[in-house]
Amino acid sequence: MIEKGATIAEPKGKLGVLLVGLGAVSTTFIAGVEAIKKGLAKPIGSLTQMGTIRLGKRTDGRSPLIKDFVPLADLKDLVFGTWDIFEENAYDAAMHAGVLEKELLVRLKPQLSKVKPMAAVFDQEYVKRLSGTNVKKGKTKMDLARQLMADMAEFKKKNRCSRMVMVWCASTEVFIKHPVHKTLESFEQAMRDNHKAIAPSMIYAYVALKSGVGFANGAPNLTVDIPAMRELAEKQKLPLCGKDFKTGQTLMKTMIAPGLKSRMLGLNGWYSTNILGNRDGEVLDDPGSFKTKEESKLSVLDYILQPEKYPDLYGHYTHLVKINYYPPRGDNKEGWDNIDIFGWLGYPMQIKIDFLCRDSILAAPIVLDLALFMDLAQRTGMRGIQEWLSFYFKSPMCAPKLYPEHDLFIQLMKLKNTLRHLRGEELITHLGLEYYD
Ligand SMILES: NC(=O)c1ccc[n+]([C@@H]2O[C@H](COP(=O)([O-])OP(=O)(O)OC[C@H]3O[C@@H](n4cnc5c(N)ncnc54)[C@H](O)[C@@H]3O)[C@@H](O)[C@H]2O)c1
Repeated sequence: MIEKGATIAEPKGKLGVLLVGLGAVSTTFIAGVEAIKKGLAKPIGSLTQMGTIRLGKRTDGRSPLIKDFVPLADLKDLVFGTWDIFEENAYDAAMHAGVLEKELLVRLKPQLSKVKPMAAVFDQEYVKRLSGTNVKKGKTKMDLARQLMADMAEFKKKNRCSRMVMVWCASTEVFIKHPVHKTLESFEQAMRDNHKAIAPSMIYAYVALKSGVGFANGAPNLTVDIPAMRELAEKQKLPLCGKDFKTGQTLMKTMIAPGLKSRMLGLNGWYSTNILGNRDGEVLDDPGSFKTKEESKLSVLDYILQPEKYPDLYGHYTHLVKINYYPPRGDNKEGWDNIDIFGWLGYPMQIKIDFLCRDSILAAPIVLDLALFMDLAQRTGMRGIQEWLSFYFKSPMCAPKLYPEHDLFIQLMKLKNTLRHLRGEELITHLGLEYYD
C-alpha cells in the first residue's frame, strides 16, 4: 500500500502519451490538447485541468486546483505516439472522424499532421468489421510483441521522453476468456504458440508493461482484467486501469441510479437504446464486439442498486441496452432511456431521458486525465489496479475479492481522497459535526 504523504518524483521532461488507435477519440483528444495549448479553447470536462480539491475544514478556504495540488505533467510536455491499421495522420484521421469543425482542424494542421501512426498489431479475427493495410507481420505473437517494443523504444528516444503511458483507444475486440490467461507463464507460452486467446490488445498491454509503462484500457476488452496481466503489473511495479471510458448513457446511469437508490425509490425497468453512426458504432454492430460492450454496460445497475440487499425495490427489474448503428448521426450519438420507477405505496412513475451527446467530446478529457494520473501513479510507485481511477470507467477494475464501485459520486470521493492521502492531507468524510460544537 502506498503510504500517506508518499514521495512523488517531479514530472521532469517530456511525457510520451502512446495511443493505440487513431480514431475519433484519439484525434479529438490530441486536437483538443493542441487547441488548448494555443489558447483556442479551455479544457472543459477535464478534472485534472479544471477541478479543485477542498483541503481541511469547510471554513479553511483551501481549495486549490488539482493540477496545483499534485505534480502533474504540463500539457506543453505531452508528445503523442500512436498505432493504427490505417496510415492517415492525425489531421486526416480527425477530418475523417468528423467530430471537430474543419476550421479548427485546419488551424491545427501543422501539429496534427506530424502525428503519424506506426504499423499496428491487428487481426480481423478480433474486430470483424475492420480491415486495413498498416499492419505488422510476424511469425508469432511474441514476434509482434518484440516489434512493438522496438517501436516504443524508438519513439521514446526520438522524442526524448523521460516517461510514457499507454492508453487503449482502439476498437472493441470480440469477447475472449481462456485458461491461458491465468498465469504470466501460460500467457507468454500462448504468445509463442500463436494461441487464439491472445488478442492484439493483450499484446500491446504486455509490451507496455514489459517496457516499464502503465496501461489504461478505454475499451471494454478484457485486455488487462486477466490474472497474467495483473501478475506482470505487480512484477514490474506498474499501474493498470480500465475499462471502457464512462461517457454517454452509462455516465447518466451512474449519476441517476445512485440518486434513486438513496431515496429508496424502486425500479421496475430501465430500457436504454442508442443510435450511433461512427466507426465505433459500425464495429459494435458485430455481435462479437457488441457482447464485450454489453457485458460492460449491463452490470452497472446491479452493482449500484444491490438487488440482493433491497429485494422489494430492485429484485425484479428488467434492464435492456441496445446500440444501433445509424450512419447519418456520425459521432453525435442520441441515447434514450425509459426508466420505470415506483414510489410510496408502489405507485408507478416514469423518467425519460433523451441525451443528444457527442461521444468523443465526452471521451477526450477522460484520455487526458488518465494519461496525467497514470503518469502520477507511476512516479509515485503505485502499482497494480488503480481503483481510484474508477471514476473514468464503465466497468472499473478492482481487486478480485471486491465488487466494483460504480456510483459516480463515491468514485469522485475515492479519487480526491486518494490525492489527499498522497499529499499527506486529512481525508474528507463530510461528517462535519465539528462545526456545531
Ligand atoms: N467515444 C466514447 O465515448 C467511448 C466510450 C467508451 C469506450 N469507447 C471505446 O474507445 C474506443 C475508441 O473509440 P473511437 O470512437 O475512437 O473508435 P474509432 O473506430 O473511431 O477508432 C478506433 C481506431 O482503432 C483502430 N484500431 C482497431 N484495432 C486496432 C489495433 N489492433 N491496433 C491499432 N489500431 C487499431 C481503428 O482502425 C480505428 O481507427 C472503442 O473501443 C470504443 O468502444 C469510446
